[in-house]
Amino acid sequence: MYDIEVVKNKVKELVNEKRYEHSLLTAKEAKELALHLGYDANIAEIVGMAHDIAKDFSDEENEKWVNKYNLDKSLLDESYRKMIHADIGAIVCKEWFNFSDEMCNAIKYHTVANEEMSLLDVIIFIADKIGRVDIPEDLKDLKSIAYQDLDKAMALFLEREQVMLQSKGRDLLPGAKKLLERLGEE
Ligand SMILES: [Fe+2]
Repeated sequence: MYDIEVVKNKVKELVNEKRYEHSLLTAKEAKELALHLGYDANIAEIVGMAHDIAKDFSDEENEKWVNKYNLDKSLLDESYRKMIHADIGAIVCKEWFNFSDEMCNAIKYHTVANEEMSLLDVIIFIADKIGRVDIPEDLKDLKSIAYQDLDKAMALFLEREQVMLQSKGRDLLPGAKKLLERLGEE
């Protein structure tokens, strides 16, 4: 139903070389995690491939999509700069490849965790973090933990993110905080 080659070619055309390599690795990690967890591996792979498709869009390009779909203009705020590619990526994948809502949501939520994450959302979120050539030191154990317990890997990532943000006088966004609280209770 979905053709990964079409998505791959489009991603290659739109992102820089390093990001393309990261997209291939994220797709691979997402596929392997899905196989391990009994989720549809083809779907996980294709969403992993597509998740950063809009990351190198120009400001003008982002604005075009925000206007076309009548999205909240605050998405274009400077403070949202690192996150907008997830919102726009979900939209372009719907329009260009007819991704299901479930697939689009996983793209939308891959940068900012939220309270109600589906299995695919978490697979893509974690695959994005471990799908790197040089995984940062504090993420090196994430992969093996993800294979033991995906929720535990998610909680661990958020805990570390929280520590890092709090050291800068900031904190997790409310949705991510709620998710961390929920995972801690389970
Ligand atoms: Fe990514």
